[in-house]
Amino acid sequence: MTTSTKQSGDLLAVENYSGGFLTDTGELTPILHDVTFSLRQGNLTAIVGETGSGKSLIALSMLGLTPGTFRRTTGSILFDGQDLGSMTEPQWRQVRGSQIAMVFQDARAALNPVLSVGRQLIDACRANRGVSAREARTIATEALRDVRVPEPEQRMRQYPHEFSGGMAQRVMLALALICRPRLLVLDEPTTGLDVTIQADIMELIVEMTRSHGLTACLITHDLGVVAETCDDVVVLFNGRIREVGTCYQVLTDPTDQYTRGLLRASRFEEAA
Ligand SMILES: Nc1ncnc2c1ncn2[C@@H]1O[C@H](COP(=O)(O)OP(=O)(O)O)[C@@H](O)[C@H]1O
Ligand SMILES: [Mg+2]
Repeated sequence: MTTSTKQSGDLLAVENYSGGFLTDTGELTPILHDVTFSLRQGNLTAIVGETGSGKSLIALSMLGLTPGTFRRTTGSILFDGQDLGSMTEPQWRQVRGSQIAMVFQDARAALNPVLSVGRQLIDACRANRGVSAREARTIATEALRDVRVPEPEQRMRQYPHEFSGGMAQRVMLALALICRPRLLVLDEPTTGLDVTIQADIMELIVEMTRSHGLTACLITHDLGVVAETCDDVVVLFNGRIREVGTCYQVLTDPTDQYTRGLLRASRFEEAA
């Protein structure tokens, strides 16, 4: 495990980031308060915290996809030194997918329902890699094979509704990886899937992240998964950071009361 400094080893830095939602009357309901953490290059960082703590909002902020009523009030998010908050939509189109990719919770809803899976993979591949249609088809088929979708040639012709939740999540992962991003953001990628396949999908995610040398941010409420797979962890509660550190440090010797409670609740302490 590296002990890189903020300047040299961080791919993304969230600094004093605050924001909330505008109400109908034009007032701001604050949600995120002074959030500060960073994603170290090549590391898998988990963001944990209960529902409503602001995890998805942080993920969406990394992709410039926050709802229209969201307003940042302080701070910034720097990706490789560039302030994401000051980017225009055309600039975002250069970054989203190709530099920062996201895997959402509900893959079938995130995929385009009217295009075959093959078409979506081929289009993403061509847009990001400047290859011919023929090459893109080969790469796309291989991408499906890599995420262990059986019979990828046949599957290329099928539409998202023909895939199970788990298979759709594999497709989503292939779609994210085919663009060769530098950062992969995964928002509860196995929540909602059949429990019997959650572990397989998580294992695949970790394997693909590691083998591609990606920096990844995994949002989850499963501390068991964090303990097994992640390097660093950020604990969020009610829009505030409670604790940040390496997984080892935070899971074995938490300094924060809330983190201790989370650990107790997940019974991780007994297993450790
Ligand atoms: N579009 C929205 N308008 C108003 N409030 C929202 C909107 N989206 C999320 N919120 C609120 O922001 C808070 C954080 O939400 P979210 O980031 O989705 O939490 P998490 O992913 O940790 O469950 C919640 O209180 C939620 O109700
Ligand atoms: Mg969420």
